[in-house]
Amino acid sequence: MKIRLRTAPRPARGECIVVPLFKGSAAAAPWRAYPQLAEPARRRGMKGAVGESLFLHSLEQGRLFLLLGAGRANSPADARRWACRAMALLRENRVARATVHLPAAPTPPPAYLAALADALLLNGYRFDRYRKKKAGRIESVRLATGRRGPFGARELAERALVLEEVERVRDLVNEIPAKVTPDSLAAAFADSARRHGLELQAWRRRELEANGMNGLLAVGAASCCEPALLSLTYAPAAGGPSLVLVGKGITFDSGGLSLKPAASMEEMKSDMAGAAAVLGAVNAAARLRLGLKVTALAPLAENLPGRRAYKPGDVIAYANGKTVEIVNTDAEGRLILADALIAAARRRPGRIVELSTLTGAIVTALGDSYAGLFCRDRRLAAALLRAGEASGERLWQLPLPEEYRESIASKVADLKNANYNGASSVKAGLFLAEFAGRVPFAHIDIAGTAFLGKPNAFYAAEGATGFGVRLLVEFMRELARSK
Ligand code: BES
Ligand code: MN
Ligand code: ZN
Repeated sequence: MKIRLRTAPRPARGECIVVPLFKGSAAAAPWRAYPQLAEPARRRGMKGAVGESLFLHSLEQGRLFLLLGAGRANSPADARRWACRAMALLRENRVARATVHLPAAPTPPPAYLAALADALLLNGYRFDRYRKKKAGRIESVRLATGRRGPFGARELAERALVLEEVERVRDLVNEIPAKVTPDSLAAAFADSARRHGLELQAWRRRELEANGMNGLLAVGAASCCEPALLSLTYAPAAGGPSLVLVGKGITFDSGGLSLKPAASMEEMKSDMAGAAAVLGAVNAAARLRLGLKVTALAPLAENLPGRRAYKPGDVIAYANGKTVEIVNTDAEGRLILADALIAAARRRPGRIVELSTLTGAIVTALGDSYAGLFCRDRRLAAALLRAGEASGERLWQLPLPEEYRESIASKVADLKNANYNGASSVKAGLFLAEFAGRVPFAHIDIAGTAFLGKPNAFYAAEGATGFGVRLLVEFMRELARSK
């Protein structure tokens, strides 16, 4: 979908005009520009609450209007919600082109326009490559802002660039598991390296063995496709702060020998959403030429049962000297992430941020609007929380209490990979923290936010959201600015 910025709305023939109706502010009411909408809106009892909507045909103008409740005129969160609703309605009504007409006064702040542009672009996406009957495609949206301001064509182009990366990530996560393997993801990383001149390293079985990456080797043992650890780096000549992003890349999570029940396995093609997100974030950093050094580190494996499968009772020895008893082969994410975190910490970056679809319990705790943040470094946590609010990819911090550490202690090894007595997201976070050394470290559990079983207030489509790319871009922008 294309998006363009306009000051005056000069809608072409056949374009639907989308008109937001804000709550409580008479000044912002659209009746002066569109008097024909006033009476029908009044009859419908529209008050400007998000969720209200009204399609209107104007016969004399030969024109379609969509009047939408838009909430508070200064709330980016409301902008995200009404834009989602607008795109869903346009698509349902097979409208291919629209002009969104914002009132000239009060002038929307840049953060509002950024949120609106993001939400329009986000909801222009559909994954329908396997359907003969395609969903309606929205080709273009024009954003008429009334007057020139600090959010201009350049800012819009940057948002669109980031959203392009979000779409690539969503395509990767939505793609069927027959086509997404450690090999195919290695090819996707190589493609990015070529396109954006990034540095790529790939460890396959031989290198994994030589470097004692035994978590990846164990988890990937039963798959016909070898596991991998991929590293993709953007390093501008001018240098800057350094960051390693780690992303969980289980290309399919059957649970292994501790097999998942059928219903829980259904969405497990999405268990590589962390790896896809860190790839997208590094691509975006390179394309935006941000002033920092950033590496995406992705441990990749397919978790299957089979003759060679790793087993409950096995013990894995890690390169940092720690040993882990396997009690459940379905707690596989932390096992491959441990290898990646050891490798990340050895590079001595300023900070490590790790994203993973790690626990079902985070879905229970936070649902699909907040990802769980686990971080002992105050500054890092605060920066990530800010980036979450600014990007709309929100985080909620949960604790890493030391007294729970004993619940993941094992009698035969230093640690065990699971414990069933509650707080499993927290315990997974405590487990990961054991492998990041002394580098400031944040773990973000995206199991609830990366993949939607059904649409929600911000996403008109079910499936992959690309969660993490916009969050990390915002975080990296601030980090690059900080030094
Ligand atoms: N990939 C799953 C977590 C998950 C669940 C992601 C739901 C997305 C939606 C992870 O590997 C897993 O199986 N976790 C187990 C851990 C347990 C065995 C300690 C879980 O959360 O049930
Ligand atoms: Mn699992
Ligand atoms: Zn998993």
